[in-house]
This record gives sequence, C-alpha cells and structure tokens, in this order.
Amino acid sequence: MRRFKTQLLVVLARLYIVTSQSCPDYSTYSKTRHEPFSPGRYALSSARPPPSCRTFNSSALESLLSSFSANITDPDLLRLFQNTYPNTLDTAIKWHGFSSANPSEEELTFIITGDINAMWLRDSANQLQSYLPLLTPSSSPNSLASLFRGAINLHARYLLTSPFCNSFQPPPESGLAPSPNPASDSDVVFPPYDPDKVFECKYELDSLASFLQLSTEYHEATHDSGFFGKFSWVEAVKAVLATARSMTTPTYSPLDGKPLDSPYTFTRKTTRSTETLPNDGLGHPVAAGTGLIRSAFRPSDDSTTYQFLIPSNMLFCRYLASASLIATAINQTTLAGEMMEFSASLRQAIQTHGVASVPGDNGTVERVYAYEVDGFGSSLLQDDANLPSLLSAPLMGYLAPTDPVYLATRKRVLSIKNPYYAAGGVIRGVGSAHTGPGRVWPMSLIVQILTSDDDEEIRGAIKQILGSTDGLGLVHEGVDGWDGSRWTREWFGWANGLFGGMMIDVMRRKEGLLRESFQ
Ligand SMILES: *[C@@H]1O[C@H](CO)[C@@H](O)[C@H](O)[C@H]1NC(C)=O
Ligand SMILES: *[C@@H]1O[C@H](CO)[C@@H](O)[C@H](O)[C@H]1NC(C)=O
Ligand SMILES: *[C@@H]1O[C@H](CO)[C@@H](O)[C@H](O)[C@H]1NC(C)=O
Ligand SMILES: *[C@@H]1O[C@H](CO)[C@@H](O)[C@H](O)[C@H]1NC(C)=O
Repeated sequence: MRRFKTQLLVVLARLYIVTSQSCPDYSTYSKTRHEPFSPGRYALSSARPPPSCRTFNSSALESLLSSFSANITDPDLLRLFQNTYPNTLDTAIKWHGFSSANPSEEELTFIITGDINAMWLRDSANQLQSYLPLLTPSSSPNSLASLFRGAINLHARYLLTSPFCNSFQPPPESGLAPSPNPASDSDVVFPPYDPDKVFECKYELDSLASFLQLSTEYHEATHDSGFFGKFSWVEAVKAVLATARSMTTPTYSPLDGKPLDSPYTFTRKTTRSTETLPNDGLGHPVAAGTGLIRSAFRPSDDSTTYQFLIPSNMLFCRYLASASLIATAINQTTLAGEMMEFSASLRQAIQTHGVASVPGDNGTVERVYAYEVDGFGSSLLQDDANLPSLLSAPLMGYLAPTDPVYLATRKRVLSIKNPYYAAGGVIRGVGSAHTGPGRVWPMSLIVQILTSDDDEEIRGAIKQILGSTDGLGLVHEGVDGWDGSRWTREWFGWANGLFGGMMIDVMRRKEGLLRESFQ
C-alpha cells in the first residue's frame, strides 16, 4: 500500500510537471495560429489556452459561450467571441488569494493587463467590467464575486500606498516576484515610490476613477454593502478624494501670481515627448478657479497636452456620485456628502470649461466637448481610443446618448476632423498618440458600436474588427489602417473583454444582427 502510494505520488508529480511545462507562455501562444481554424473566410485561430492552463474557471462563462454559439451564425464572428470574451479569466488572473492582514477573510486578486506582467488600476477594473453579465452575489472564494472583491481590496491597498501611480507589482502574499520596468529606470517622480510595489507611476485621474467604478459595479450587481465596511475601502476613498483635490492646484497662486508647488511631478529620459512632462515635470500651465482636476497622463499612458482631461473628469464625476451611495449604505454619511458635493461641482466645471465652440457646416457654430483644456481658453479638439474617451461619454453614464453636445462631438471625433482618426481601407476609426497616426484601435470601433443604434454602423464596425485580427482571432491594440498584418499587442486583456461585452450587448439589443453573415 505504502509502495503504491509512493508510486502514485511519483506519477502525480510527473503529471504535474508535464502539465505545468506544457502550459505555453500566452504571449507566444497568442502570436501563432492554432487549429482548428474557424470555417469561414478569415480562418481564425483557436486562441483559448488549453483548459488545464486557464487561470480561472467559471461555469457561468462556459454556459454563456455555449448558449451564444447557436445564435451567432457567422463562424468567424463566433470564433472571435469565443476567443476574446474569456481572455482575462483564461490568462490574466495571475493570483487570487487572501491578505496576510486578514487571512481567510480579505480576498486579493492580482490581474495582469496581458503581455505586461503588472496590474493597472484602469485595465483591471475594465477587464472585470466585461464579466458583469455573469456576476451574481456569492461569498464563495471560488466565485467571480470573490475576484471582484479581491480586486477592490488590492486597488485599495495600492491607492493607500501610492495614490499617484497607475500600475502595480504583485502583492507579497502571492509569492510572485516584482517585474522590473526598464522604462522607469530614469524616472524622477514626486512623490517618490517603491519599485517593488509600483510598476509605473504615471498620475492618471482615470486610475482613481477606476476604483470607484469597480466598487460601484460590484455593489450594484450584488447589493453587498457589508463588504465595503470591512477592510480599507473607506480609507482608500478618502485617499482618492485627497489626491484628486490636491490635483485641482493651479499653476499660479490666485493670491500673488507666484508659481505654486505641484503635488506631483514626473520626468523620464526618453525620445518620445508623450513619455515625459514639460516644464521639468510640471506639465503645461493650468489656470486657477476652474474646478477641474488635472491629469498628468491619459488613459493611453501618454502625457496630456492640457492637463484638464475632460473624459477623465467625466468618469471621476460620474463614479464619485454612484460610489457615494455605497458610503451612504455603510453609514459614512459625511464622506457620502463630500463625494456628492465634489461630483456636482465637477459636473458644473466640465459644462463650463470643457465645451468648445467650433465652426460647423454652412457658417453655423457647433458646441462640442474638448478632449483637454487648460482653463486659459485653449482646448484640444480630438479624441483618443482609450477609455475614458469623449466617444464613450454615454457608455460611462456621464450623459445621455441623445445629448446634442455629445452627438456633435461624436460626429466630429468619428471623422477626419479628429487628428487621431485614420480612414484606412482595412479599418477606419480612432487611434492614439500611443501608437502614432495611421493606427486604428479596434477598441474605438467597439465603443462606436456600443454607442450606436444604427444597424448599418454596427454591421460595418463588426465587419472591420473581424477582418483585422491578422488571422489570430484576438483583438489587438492598434492596427495599421491600410495593412492588417501590422499591429501592436498580441495579448491585450481589456480590449478582448470589451469586444466580448459588446457582443453580449448587441445580442440583447439587436439579436437578429448576429444571425447575419459577415463573410
Ligand atoms: C480549471 O479547470 C481545469 C480542468 O478543466 C484544471 O485543469 C485547471 O487547473 C483549473 N484551473 C484553475 C485555476 O482552477
Ligand atoms: C438565442 O436565440 C433564441 C431564439 O431566438 C432565444 O430564445 C435565446 O434567448 C437566444 N440566446 C441568447 C443567449 O440570447
Ligand atoms: C447603519 O445604520 C443603521 C441605522 O442605525 C443600522 O441599522 C445599520 O445596521 C447600519 N449599517 C452599517 C453597515 O453599519
Ligand atoms: C448646407 O447648405 C447646403 C446648401 O444650401 C445644404 O444642401 C446642406 O444641407 C446644408 N448643410 C447643413 C448641415 O445644414
């Protein structure tokens, strides 16, 4: 018996070694095509990792995938959905466990962005957002609800450690080693940070908002108020408020006109102007008294031209209001009041300073949202594909899709009047300074679909995304508008999940459309 047991252990150990050795590095795996290919003109790869290598199993996810398979007629579109929607659960849940401070109580979830081994506040919130259709209340540590709680707890820890930073290292409890970030080697950042805890420290207002977004979404789906009173959520919200408030500091003192110290500065040795801040790390000057919050960097991680980044102010405004309901639910009445008040004043500030007048057709004047303003009267009229974007304003719930200023903005950013729009023959849409002119981000077409009720527009955008995966069957970051074989990022969890979430949305709104052929 004993001998048998030993033999069994040896066999099991070998099996384990074989299985773990055979798990491919997904960066490599996602760059090559795997059979069986989808039986359509695009012959898309089977891009899900083998079941034994998946980082989180969800039976709700598997049953959703199979229930949709009967309703998506186009074989390539079905394959793209099956590959992309599970991507974060399949590949990016690097660790899920408990905090050493509250073992067996305080869950932690470390979610990597994909091909970079670090957790972004924005990406991770959005990576989980894709799974809201599957989220149900559960106290089980194996549930999707537990993944959400773990991410909220880890966000709170990160925000209490380094509230100006955007991406982070694994928690020590995971036993995972921190990844060095060579790009950060020359960074001079104030306040300073610990590279064992922080992967990169670009201050982005939407990172702060992402924590409020993730909290709101978990709360609305589960009504689990109790959770928010248990660990560091309240303290983290206070840190978010203090950080955002500090970043309303203008460049010059309204009292004597002298330049003020900035709560945050950042410089890096680089040949790309968007990877550092002008004026020795201060950024371009911003005016006093606008009520807007500065953002040193955009959701693309590129530096802002004018620091009052309107879409990020919109996102923060919107989720500050909704997260105040959580504070109310746990009897944090003063905090809730402060959140509501800040949100209301921010909305006022956006409407006052974030709208620009531009020449419309036939000598008319149009009012559109600016992407960035400085409060002195300058505005940057463009959009960027990363969320939050101007295009996504109704999606984030800041305004109604019928808002006339939004509609004029939408029309403009989806045209060659937007400096980062590329009207390619393979794919047409919004790009980003992150990848340079001429690269379209499929993410922008996904948002175009999510903010459209026009069947023709939706059909056209689906067709372009489907035709621009280079046969790999995954959603990439930026694709050359004229040459679909030139693209960036083979493993981009957020964009994959966003595509899957969009398909679920279209299935609900326009089921018939997904019964069409996209060949
Ligand atoms: C998911 O399920 C497969 C079996 O289908 C198993 O091999 C794998 O270890 C599971 N993954 C996790 C993270 O539990
Ligand atoms: C698929 O189509 C059937 C028949 O129209 C419908 O009853 C079902 O709800 C659809 N499934 C999904 C997941 O929408
Ligand atoms: C909030 O206060 C109410 C009324 O005093 C009480 O019933 C409820 O249990 C409290 N909730 C929390 C989360 O403390
Ligand atoms: C502009 O004027 C032309 C000629 O009068 C007209 O055909 C067109 O519809 C007008 N465009 C708008 C947007 O009003």
